[in-house]
Amino acid sequence: MIPSNIIDDIRFRCEIESTISGYVQLRRAGRNLKGLCPFHSERTPSFTVYPENQSFYCFGCGAGGDVINFVMRMENLDYISAVEYLADKAGITLPSQNSGIERDTGVSRKRILAMNVEAARFYRSCLLDERIGAAGRAYFQERGLSSAIISRFGLGFAPISGTLRHLKSLGFTENEIQTGYFCGKSERGYYDYFRGRVMFPIIDVSGNVIAFGGRVLDDSKPKYLNTSDTPAFKKSKNLFALNFAKKYCENGFILCEGYMDVIALHAAGFQNAIATLGTAITAEQARILKKYASKVIITYDSDEAGQKATARAMTLLEEAGIDAKVLKLQDAKDPDEYIKKFGAEKFRQLIEGSRSKFDYLIEAVTEKYNMEADEEKIKALNEVCLAISRVYSNIERDIYIEKTAKIFAIDPKSIQGDVDRLRRRAVKENDKKRRADLIRNTSGSSDRVNPDFMRQPKAARLEEEVLGMLFLHNELLTEELKDGVLTGEDFSTEFGRRLYVFFESAVQNGGFSIGMLGESFTPDEVSRATRMLLNRSELPKNDGDIFRLYAEQLREETKKAKSSLSIADIINQKRTQK
Ligand code: CTP
Ligand code: MN
Repeated sequence: MIPSNIIDDIRFRCEIESTISGYVQLRRAGRNLKGLCPFHSERTPSFTVYPENQSFYCFGCGAGGDVINFVMRMENLDYISAVEYLADKAGITLPSQNSGIERDTGVSRKRILAMNVEAARFYRSCLLDERIGAAGRAYFQERGLSSAIISRFGLGFAPISGTLRHLKSLGFTENEIQTGYFCGKSERGYYDYFRGRVMFPIIDVSGNVIAFGGRVLDDSKPKYLNTSDTPAFKKSKNLFALNFAKKYCENGFILCEGYMDVIALHAAGFQNAIATLGTAITAEQARILKKYASKVIITYDSDEAGQKATARAMTLLEEAGIDAKVLKLQDAKDPDEYIKKFGAEKFRQLIEGSRSKFDYLIEAVTEKYNMEADEEKIKALNEVCLAISRVYSNIERDIYIEKTAKIFAIDPKSIQGDVDRLRRRAVKENDKKRRADLIRNTSGSSDRVNPDFMRQPKAARLEEEVLGMLFLHNELLTEELKDGVLTGEDFSTEFGRRLYVFFESAVQNGGFSIGMLGESFTPDEVSRATRMLLNRSELPKNDGDIFRLYAEQLREETKKAKSSLSIADIINQKRTQK
């Protein structure tokens, strides 16, 4: 644990209001501040900052915590790194690494980043090595990459063996090297992960080498190996070449599937090209892109998989508020091949004529259905109306309705009528869903954060009250519980028990604050704990009397819950006793 006085210092100097203001535009609303949630896509602000409690909570997605948890989520950092990050900003010196600030693997983000830079250098020197790099150089040459573009992207070559040895010689331990995904471990010991592959370093927007992709030189499988998530890297939150593309995206990004596509596009002068890292685009990535530009042109592979992915990407991008267009490649499987076959100028023309989501839809629908048959035409129109009904902007909807009327030769009023009906239905369904969500969240069924909630709802609710008061007024623990009135055993859900045990030990070690939970709890768990605190903070009474009353009731309820174990529970217990 990081000493609590340091956490206090950080919370004090990195005041939540000003820290969050650096990311989110906040407006005052009474004692609190509101803004559009940076963790999910929304149009009306439900993200709230509570300066009094130095915490935040979003009523839309349930994200919550203090300034540390905010930075963890926002900057995609683990607990220690978030503390380091804020300490650095506030000019606070943290105790050194060996005084207990360590993660599960014991490897820090800093160490991984340092190792990645060394690995990138090593791969590059291997590529340039007369003998070792010959095959890699030949491969790149065959794919038409100039040495200028190779060095711009820092491409390299991983030899059949030697990476592990090299990193060890620089003082990295086997544990560090394995955590950084440069080696695996078998019965026979550690072995290199990337072997005989050309290497693509992945660089984040701050210029850190955060991961690698490695491609085989022939047709063997797997074609690519990638670094899995490490303390310094999360696939779902990064994009290939965004470090370059962010400077060239005034007119939007070009989103493609592969590393080689991106490199070919950059070489041809399209420096706004990016790719996801071997996965479909995520909502998080869409929101990251939105920070830099509000337009994206999708140019995925022309095969079936690519086209399916296109439809999905379009939805995700639009949800993030991005104007998404699609570029369909004719006679080439991907942008890389297209440029090789037809040249950069042809590709530019293609981009200029790239179709809007709507044109794309119309084309897909008219291809799918036979427009000569009435029944099929009706189906096609229904699909189009449904799509129009989901468009947020009134103006945009009107334009699409006009267009559809022309294409299908139908009275625009009829289309308007159908669209309106679909919109009303969607609003109703949305309301219903929200009400159901609300009931589910409060009653706790299918509660992912606290799966035990529903089994003892009464105890679980009391538990939340008790924990909320303790989080709010830590002194309640020291004053009221000196003689161990409440223990972990009095909590009836596993989650409640874990929270209490953590809280108790933090208080005994100098103090507790919500942000510290980030060390041992998931972001969603921290959010729930924050909600407990905020719920109590809105009530006037949180004194010792109330607390004792609730604690007493909780103890009783938990006892009751324990004594009324189901037959199945009893049988299971007997079995484990045997
Ligand atoms: N990918 C991966 N693992 C694989 C195959 C693909 O991670 N086994 C990811 C890579 O990021 C790759 C992207 O998916 O860049 C697209 O795959 P593909 O179109 O097959 O790769 P290209 O980059 O086009 O590679 P190439 O042109 O060299 O065949
Ligand atoms: Mn390709």
